[in-house]
Amino acid sequence: MATPITEIEDLKRIYKRRVPKMFYDYCESGSWTEQTFRENTTDFDKIRLRQRVAVDMDDRSTATKMIGEDVTMPVGLAPVGMTGMQHADGEILAAQAAEEFGVPFTLSTMSICSIEDVAKHTKKPFWFQLYVMRDEEFLENVIRRATEAGCSAMVLTLDLQILGQRHKDIKNGLSAPPKPTLKNMLNLSTKWGWGMDMLKTQRRSFGNIVGHAKGVGDMSSLSSWTAEQFDPRLDWEKVKKIRDMWGGKLILKGILDADDARAALDVGADAIIVSNHGGRQLDGALSAIRVLPEIVDAVGGQTEIHMDSGIRSGQDVLKAMALGADGTYIGRAFIYGLGAKGKQGVTDALNVIHKELDTTMALCGHRKLTEVGRDILLLDDEFNRYRRNI
Ligand SMILES: Cc1cc2nc3c(=O)[nH]c(=O)nc-3n(C[C@H](O)[C@H](O)[C@H](O)COP(=O)(O)O)c2cc1C
Repeated sequence: MATPITEIEDLKRIYKRRVPKMFYDYCESGSWTEQTFRENTTDFDKIRLRQRVAVDMDDRSTATKMIGEDVTMPVGLAPVGMTGMQHADGEILAAQAAEEFGVPFTLSTMSICSIEDVAKHTKKPFWFQLYVMRDEEFLENVIRRATEAGCSAMVLTLDLQILGQRHKDIKNGLSAPPKPTLKNMLNLSTKWGWGMDMLKTQRRSFGNIVGHAKGVGDMSSLSSWTAEQFDPRLDWEKVKKIRDMWGGKLILKGILDADDARAALDVGADAIIVSNHGGRQLDGALSAIRVLPEIVDAVGGQTEIHMDSGIRSGQDVLKAMALGADGTYIGRAFIYGLGAKGKQGVTDALNVIHKELDTTMALCGHRKLTEVGRDILLLDDEFNRYRRNI
């Protein structure tokens, strides 16, 4: 009998065995020294919970809404580039798992399965994450394609005009599909399950880009393509322009500063995502959970505040919600599941987090997630120690 999956770490162990090193490293890295990547998770440990007893714990609910959409729990799947390289047809499988569970799925611009492909294989609308490219025609087209596919929100990522360096991606020669070098071939020869699934699918390059963008150089190399195509001039004026081109619900991703959160309000964002891109961009930035309270205090109640970066458990979700988030996302936690076991693995990851969230909420004396507040938290004195203007 297979060992039961009881925590996200179980999925990560299987994932590491099953998926080529290049894609494991792509997921499991942060930029430069990886300080921010590490602190995203360790900072959650600095927040403790107040146990309460003799409270009726019957009839509990983690259900709430994110941008007006009902969710089983406020934990969306974050946009993750190259998800279809972690498992064949990865975006389709993850979107289906999210749909069945009742949480949002966000498709990355840099996905392997295309917008149309995911729409064809799902029933409910999903969200589309946009990276702003220099090529205006491509930009207009991709926004139109997301509209035509019925996407119910646009997640506009603001923290990746230029790419933070991850050493391993360069050393591994990260590409989709992997190049047939001796090193890759040796590694792939130990990843049979992954390889057999990949042989069965046609989806092996960037589905939203290839055939849609003109003058694309070496598309397989994500880093060189990003350097060539992503628009480094993206500013608030351009954000407004994109808001108008899209016309639907807009979520601004990658906010880590109260002043930027206020600017997002001026744009009329339906939600912002407090995020440092999972520690993949500015190394040395604070963890998302550490800046969350300041941003909640600055703009809470005026727009929805979502957060990601570092969530590996339901306890983490509860801490973010208690600090004032209206929703959260998982990136790596669902990728571990997907790489380990395909669609079932994503469902397993969501089940693990849901159970942890539900039980932890109850042991903190609450039955409804919507009623949880900062009073359930005990913060380390040092949690607030980083300040501006010293
Ligand atoms: C492998 C990988 C690829 C990612 N690709 C994208 C992307 O294409 N677009 C985007 O907005 N964010 C991307 N992100 C960032 C995630 O959306 C999210 O912010 C981050 O994973 C949250 O941190 P966590 O992995 O600790 O949960 C990526 C993250 C990872 C780990």
